[in-house]
Amino acid sequence: MNSTDNSPSIANQTAWEGLYASTRDLVWGSEPVGFLRDFIQPEVEAKRCFRRVLDAATGEGRNLPFLLGLAGEVSACDSSEAALGKIPPELRSRVKIARCDLARTPFADSSFDFILLCDTVETLPDPVPVLNELRRILAPGGTLMCNIPGPEGDVAGIEMTPIAGSGYLYRGRFYFRFFKDHEAEELLANCGWEIVRSQTMTWTEAAHPGFRAVPHHHCSRVYLLAPSVSREG
Ligand SMILES: C[S@@+](CC[C@H](N)C(=O)[O-])C[C@H]1O[C@@H](n2cnc3c(N)ncnc32)[C@H](O)[C@@H]1O
Repeated sequence: MNSTDNSPSIANQTAWEGLYASTRDLVWGSEPVGFLRDFIQPEVEAKRCFRRVLDAATGEGRNLPFLLGLAGEVSACDSSEAALGKIPPELRSRVKIARCDLARTPFADSSFDFILLCDTVETLPDPVPVLNELRRILAPGGTLMCNIPGPEGDVAGIEMTPIAGSGYLYRGRFYFRFFKDHEAEELLANCGWEIVRSQTMTWTEAAHPGFRAVPHHHCSRVYLLAPSVSREG
């Protein structure tokens, strides 16, 4: 990370770092995100290839136990050193961990068969370089799974200050954007992703220490994506 870079992305990454460092608690808890198990079940039943898996923007690693149950080899990355430091010891020895900006990862081309990008697209001031980079590091025939929340649910509209463009700052620090389905689909197509399948999923989460004081409902469109044939190679 270039310390002279004061872009919105760096300011946002600094805000996340401050959040994780501000509490010893796991901000997101230790249960996998509420849509993961149900959404991925058809691929699990079909025994789709989960040989090399990346949890991109893993946070404190709440989804890692589930991914370890599916995959031969699991890697995890995040820009926050404090978050990665909170991944529980029993998982650390079973996962390859890297600190990096998702727009510029250290991974070689075609490193992974399956990438999870959970609760992150909506938090990126510029998701385009990240979605392009994930396409680079996904192997041919591989799959990206991500969720993109719309304006429904309890997250949009609460303590959100509108800023230039279509984004908001939550509590004055954390970038969020809520995408209507057609906006999400346009973003994905522009970054060279084809939708294999998608589904609107709702779930409830407990309060997040230091971040959200009360239990709340989430609503996201969840996507299984493949690189567009026209952009491959
Ligand atoms: C809402 S949290 C979700 C964490 C995790 N995926 C989960 O579901 O618990 C968003 C995460 O994105 C990370 N992040 C934000 N910008 C990033 C970037 N440019 N590169 C890598 N990680 C980033 C933050 O540090 C934070 O951990």
